[in-house]
This record gives sequence, structure tokens and C-alpha cells, in this order.
Amino acid sequence: MRPLSDAATWWHNAVIYQLYPLSYADGDGDGTGDLGGIIQRLDHLTDTLGVDAVWLSPFYPSPLADHGYDVADYTDVDPRFGDLANFDRLVDEAHRRGLRVIVDWVPNHTSDQHPWFVQSRSSADNPRRDWYYWRDPKPDGSPPNNWVSSVRGSAWEYDEASGQYYLHSYLPQQPDLNWRNPAVRAAMLDVLRFWLDRGVDGFRIDVAHRIMKDPQLRDNPTNPDRISDYYKPINDEYLSQRHIHDRAHPDVHGVYRQIRALLDGYDGDRMAMGEIHLADLADWAAFYGTQSDELHLALNFWLTGAAWTPTAIREAVEAVEAALPQGAAPTLVLGNHDYHRLASRIGQAQARIAAMLLLTLRGAPLIFQGDEIGLTDVAVPEDRRRDRFGEPGGRWSRDGARTPMQWTSGPHAGFSPAHTEQTWLPLSPDYERNNVQAQLDDPASLLWLYRRLITYRTASPALLDGSYASVGGVPHACLAYLRKAGSDAVFVALNFGDEPQEVDLPGAGVVALSTAGTRNETVEGSVRLAANEGVCVELS
Ligand code: NOJ
Repeated sequence: MRPLSDAATWWHNAVIYQLYPLSYADGDGDGTGDLGGIIQRLDHLTDTLGVDAVWLSPFYPSPLADHGYDVADYTDVDPRFGDLANFDRLVDEAHRRGLRVIVDWVPNHTSDQHPWFVQSRSSADNPRRDWYYWRDPKPDGSPPNNWVSSVRGSAWEYDEASGQYYLHSYLPQQPDLNWRNPAVRAAMLDVLRFWLDRGVDGFRIDVAHRIMKDPQLRDNPTNPDRISDYYKPINDEYLSQRHIHDRAHPDVHGVYRQIRALLDGYDGDRMAMGEIHLADLADWAAFYGTQSDELHLALNFWLTGAAWTPTAIREAVEAVEAALPQGAAPTLVLGNHDYHRLASRIGQAQARIAAMLLLTLRGAPLIFQGDEIGLTDVAVPEDRRRDRFGEPGGRWSRDGARTPMQWTSGPHAGFSPAHTEQTWLPLSPDYERNNVQAQLDDPASLLWLYRRLITYRTASPALLDGSYASVGGVPHACLAYLRKAGSDAVFVALNFGDEPQEVDLPGAGVVALSTAGTRNETVEGSVRLAANEGVCVELS
């Protein structure tokens, strides 16, 4: 972590921690996390990990149909989480510790309980009718076009009262806002101003590419090759179409240019990072703008679905690097609240390799809450499931990756106070053994590795701002790359296999960091890697 005043373009290489407020820390004992709990546990982010910024998933008033990604009021705090005074305190406390605060902004859709939608739905001539997409049925009564929801079924919901359909790209409880209506745009930009005025340092923009659709709402063509741009299993119906009309219309770039100008108009360095699920890297990279005048960071999801092999990872990193506009910083996402847990996908041994990869690539790494202690997916019994995306016909349930943080071996893993009846999702049965406290007590733990990697990175010009170059001629089980800034050069070698390997070095150096413990070793000509070991070699 660096002092707040330090970096003009801090987001370029900031380590960002994604905090899932429902599951981080429960201060008031109702079984769900809250802002008070977050404040109590800020030290984990600053003193233990030393990250630069925290991104908070939504804490706004919400019926929680999609756990906060269905916002019923963009400018308040849901009472479950606290109130605006708690939020202001959180920002103050974070800033005092040198930690920047990024909040989630969900522009594509509101909750169906948002007063805007309640009004819009109330009658066909309500002034807010056009804030959402309302259309007549086709003559046979079917939906206005063939668009499908990312969750399941048609993206259109029929409203008996008015005899029209409304559009929802996700759940029916999440109606899509009509961004072509200037009043919607103005109201949503005011939301940004509201949080900027409260001192936030930036925004994570939910499904940033979706907000502009084909003005004529034409049918999507079919997708005979079934190419997925989500890099994850998705419902068959969604995969059966090429999504060229229901999102990412070129007009979307005008919106982000306007948002960039708004952010640039504020003092300090406020930023926006967008969640962009587009397989075509040119389309994805376009969100940085042609003149660096759109998003500061466009999150890339290729690695969440790529095979965990050196070849697949190298291919992804090189492709992303090649697609990036001059001067832009990448963010290759390894996991978040929408995916299976990283350690469940690749195993605990490779979770250490993932940590080194994440924190030694170029750009701004994102750590998803709990990955720093290797949390795995929890099998949530049916009667305690929460995620509606996981209901029949939808995608998998994301509950398993959203379970409460494991702080101690005490009651409720230290997530909730002892008197709490039940946490909102069950804890992993392994919490007595695997928790933050236990890992802090063990210098060989994954948590200590994250901590050492962040400390090392923060002091390394090559890792912070250096160039990236893949290194060829290494064993098949290994990935190697060179990060270089002036005379500072760090050679990273990662062993993805269960056998020891020898990797050639371009000269001599010192093993500054290993995923397997302290080595402090001088090496020349090559470096030996144990099974599942990764190293950073500082070249002399
Ligand atoms: C992406 C979010 O990460 C996910 O959790 C949510 O369900 C969808 N966007 C819809 O808002």
C-alpha cells in the first residue's frame, strides 16, 4: 500500500480487493455482513494484506433478488448494512489508512422495486414509462423479439395490467433501464456525483457493455458455432444466439466518454473499471477509448474459464497485452462472486501459483475476498440456497463462492458475534482449521504468501510499471515471463506440474520470492523449481 497522495494514476497498478459486504463481517449480529463489520476488519486489508483499494459490491437498498445487483435506491445504504453515516465513516477510516474506496454502480438495470420502475409500470402514460423498455407483444402475443435473459428464458416479462412486455437482461426483478432516454442518463450520472461528493475514489461498473442496445431492438442471429463470450458455462438458450443487438451497441462509447469527462472533472484521481464480457478482444479493448478517454480499466475474464495450463494462460496474457491500447493497464480476473472459487477450480497447491501470477502480471490485480486464504466452494444445502440464478433452468448457483469470511476458529468463524442465530449462508465446515487467524499464525500459509507478494510488488519498479515479455524455451509444465523497468528486471517462473523442473535464466540473479518458502538463493544460468513452485528471480 502506498500513501494516497503518491500516485497520479494509482489505478494503473493498484492491488484491488473485492469485498462482498454480505459476507465480509457482521458487526450487528443479524447474520449478514454490514458496514460496521467492515470498519472493524479494515486492518485485514491494510495491515495484513497491504492492498491499495477496496471495491465494495453493492450495499444499496435492495430486495436482494440478485443480492444487491437489483438496486432499489442508488443513493442510500440498505438498513441491513447500516446507513450513510456508517458509509462516510468507512471512507474516512479507509482513507486514513491509505486505502482507496471503489463502489459498485449498476447502470443496466434497477430492481423492480425501484420507485422509477414502480412509476414506469403504473401506467402506459406515466412520465417514467420510457425510462425502461416497454413494448407491445407480437400479434400472436409472444415477446417483442427473440432476446433471452442471461439467467433463463425470454428477456421479456409480460405485464398483465398494461398489456405490454418489459425488458430484463437478467431476472424479471431486474428491469433494464433505457439509456437512450436523456433523463435516465442524467439521473444515473447524478448517482455518480452523489458518491464522488462523498469521497469515493472510483466505480466498478456492472455489465458495463450492456447498457446500449440496438435502437430498433432487432432479433439476435443464431450462434451455430456456440461460441461463448462468458468463458463459463451459461444456459443453452443464451448460447444459441450471437448477442449483437442486445448489448454493446457502438453508442455505448459516448456514454463512457461522458463518464470519463465527469470523473476527470473531479479533484483527485477518480476512476472507473468496467465489467466487460466480450470475447472479441478488439471490442473489449475499445472500452478504454481511442484517446484513453473512456474506462480506466476494462476487466477481462478470459482466465476464469481458460484451462489452467501454462500454454492457455500464456496465450490469454499475450492476446490481452497485444489488444490493449498504448498506455492502458490490463486486469485479468481470476475469480469473483460469480464464479466457482479459485481454489476449487485449480486446487490449493496451484492457488499459490495463481497468487504469484496475479500479483506479478502487468496492471491492476483483483483479489476476491477469501481467495487469500484459499476458501473453496461450500456445498450449500437446498433449503439454504439464496441465489436465484441457480434455480432450475438457470446457471449454476453462485452461493458456494459467497459464504461468510472465515476469521477465527470461534463461533461463526468470527464472522458474526457469538449470539447470532445463523449466518445468511452456511460456513464452510473447514473453518476451525482454515481461517485468517490460523493463517496469520503460520508464515508458510497462503495468506502470508499474498502478503509477501504484495509487499514485494509494491517496492518493485519492474512489477509495478515494467514491461511484460513471455519467455520461450521453458519446460511444458512451466510459464515464464520477464518484467522489466530500466535496470530493474524480475524473471517470474511458475511450475504448474507435480514434478520438479529446471528453467533456463537469461543470466544470474537472486531468488527474491518463492511460493514455497524463503530461498534467498543466488542462481545462475537456470533456476530449479519444486513441484507447484513459483519464483521471482531478480536479475543482476
Ligand atoms: C454481474 C454481477 O457481477 C452479477 O453478480 C450480477 O448477477 C449481474 N452482473 C447482474 O447485475
